[in-house]
Amino acid sequence: AAGSSPKIIIAGAPASGKGTQCSMIKERYGVVHLSTGDMLRAAVKNQTPVGLEAKGYMDEGKLVPDEVIIGIVKDRLNEDDCKTQGWLLDGFPRTRAQADALAAEGIQANSFLLLNVPDEMLIRRVVGRRLDPDTGDIYHVDFNPPPAEIVDRLIQRADDTAEKAQVRLVQYHSNIAAIRECYEDITCSLDGSVGKEEVFLGITSELDSTLAAAAAIRGGG
Ligand code: AP5
Repeated sequence: AAGSSPKIIIAGAPASGKGTQCSMIKERYGVVHLSTGDMLRAAVKNQTPVGLEAKGYMDEGKLVPDEVIIGIVKDRLNEDDCKTQGWLLDGFPRTRAQADALAAEGIQANSFLLLNVPDEMLIRRVVGRRLDPDTGDIYHVDFNPPPAEIVDRLIQRADDTAEKAQVRLVQYHSNIAAIRECYEDITCSLDGSVGKEEVFLGITSELDSTLAAAAAIRGGG
């Protein structure tokens, strides 16, 4: 039923592993994965009005304006697949205004997953990241090496340089405290510096217990 579907927010610095964990979460829980970064990159590629506006900010590593992204996310969350399958928000909210906009719509998550990774490790992850444009799979030249037969088609994001990553990190650190305040009661803070399977174990143990508790409340105990 619509009311019982999982509603998950995942947050963390750039390259903390959100996208990597989201593909595993999506597979296990069947939720709709909504990455605002992926949505914006698709808009840029297709040269939509939103994409044309967002491109300059993204290339610089800056956040796109709240008014550009909030409407898109609200509309997407109201679509049928999100209502029936549940959703996993990745990269949103990224500012307090975005968190307040969700609350104003009455949109509430079951869990707020926060991946913690030291800054110097994030820079290494950013510069070594490679993406498969055909499948969307995420690799790292050292930490998650791609199979030899697909290496030639892999791409690097325009904002995946040490310099742009620094800008993205500053934005993250200046916004995260104000966002966390909105989700204190549902926050699960995880060590994101360990291997991806170990991070995922922490996530499943949190989600399994939170979702079971939510189901028990709905079932009357
Ligand atoms: P977005 O696409 O959301 O980028 P981001 O937050 O910077 O996050 P990343 O995609 O860089 O990293 P990730 O955490 O998904 O890490 P990943 O799993 O790939 O946003 C891009 C831009 O869009 C923003 O800068 C902004 O301009 C705009 N934007 C988006 N949302 C917005 C919003 N709400 N408001 C305003 N503007 C917005 O992993 C990284 C690397 O590490 C990979 O190579 C991976 O293989 C490796 N790795 C992952 N996990 C591990 C592990 N456990 N151990 C070792 N290596 C690992």
